[in-house]
Amino acid sequence: MSNNENSAGLAGVTAGKTAVCTVGKKGVGLTYRGYLIEDLAAKAEFEEVAYLMLYGELPTQSQLDAYKQRLIGMRGLPDAVKKALELTPGDAHPMDVMRTGASVLGTVEQENDPEAQQHDVADRLLASFPSMLLYWYHFTDSGKRIDVETDDDKIGGHFLHLLHGEKPSADATKAMSTSLILYAEHEFNASTFTARVVTATLSDFYSAVTAAIGALRGPLHGGANEKAMELIQTFEDADAAEKGLKEMMARKEKIMGFGHRVYKTHDPRNPIIKEWSKHFAGDDAYKRNLYEISERIEQVMWDEKKLFPNADFYHATAYHFLGIPTHLFTPIFVISRLTGWGAHIFEQRADNRLIRPNAEYVGPEIRDFRPIDQRG
Ligand code: ACO
Repeated sequence: MSNNENSAGLAGVTAGKTAVCTVGKKGVGLTYRGYLIEDLAAKAEFEEVAYLMLYGELPTQSQLDAYKQRLIGMRGLPDAVKKALELTPGDAHPMDVMRTGASVLGTVEQENDPEAQQHDVADRLLASFPSMLLYWYHFTDSGKRIDVETDDDKIGGHFLHLLHGEKPSADATKAMSTSLILYAEHEFNASTFTARVVTATLSDFYSAVTAAIGALRGPLHGGANEKAMELIQTFEDADAAEKGLKEMMARKEKIMGFGHRVYKTHDPRNPIIKEWSKHFAGDDAYKRNLYEISERIEQVMWDEKKLFPNADFYHATAYHFLGIPTHLFTPIFVISRLTGWGAHIFEQRADNRLIRPNAEYVGPEIRDFRPIDQRG
């Protein structure tokens, strides 16, 4: 590990080894266990990628079929989790609901023997995250206790089915699958690193995941897709967006969904999700306008600051066009990233050492202690 005085935010510091993923590797971009993100997004289903992340290799057809059936069988929620979700206020942030759901599940189905249980726990969380989110969403929205089981064998389609109460189109299911693949893994990002720090203390899988959800919630990380949507919707049209953006930049405001710690010229996930956003905008005047606003923001950011959209920016309109409420955007990231977190938790456990760096002390020198009645 380098020990660089200028490494605020650990920028540029190599903090460990991983065989799971490369980010920004020269000439390659983003890979999951050696596979290019472009290949995975175009040719794989999310469940194949989830299997790759959690079991180390792409599945054969029969392994994939069995894995999907296994996940379908793990979608139900224990009564304790349902009760906790019913008690969670409707105005809670859905990321807090995910964190709470994961935590309560961890008290009911405890991980006491990581070696024997860790794959079951990972699959259980992956399968039941959509159930937790949408059970809470419908209960607090309309008092309805939905059935969290559907016959959709793809998690993305299942999510949309639970949300809208009807089977999604093949296009919508494919777009969700692609989105889940794009969000699945990203090396030592803030939430994954958080999961590894917790894991390294020999804590349980649920604790690592709840901590990771907390890290992902912030707008500098996963929360950026929600903030990007809010921004896009403040503008009437593309010209207004250009004017507004320039004013924001003059005020040195951060534009969410742009920039990246590791990528310097582009984010390889962006063109893939941008294409889906464009596809769903189609000829619809309302959607087309939002898409054009997004493109103008992209243009202005590049012209003015050489900043490019990251994975979050076009996810905003893509999800919006799928009828997903904005405050549910980041929880979808959780569903997907659980697979990457899981891969890193397993990797950390396989070769563990406590993660405990040093700090450079910048506080006062040793001082005399004065009893409380002598302090003024
Ligand atoms: N809008 C405006 N300016 C920006 C942006 C942005 N989105 N991102 C970076 N900059 C500018 C900074 O103001 C800074 O300028 P300065 O040197 O003149 O002060 C410079 O670029 C470097 O930015 P830092 O914030 O120091 O870069 P860092 O590597 O620490 O942060 C981060 C990376 C957090 C992603 C940053 O680009 C950002 O805040 N982006 C917006 C939030 C976002 O989209 N997060 C999602 C990340 S990707 C993901 O989670 C899928």
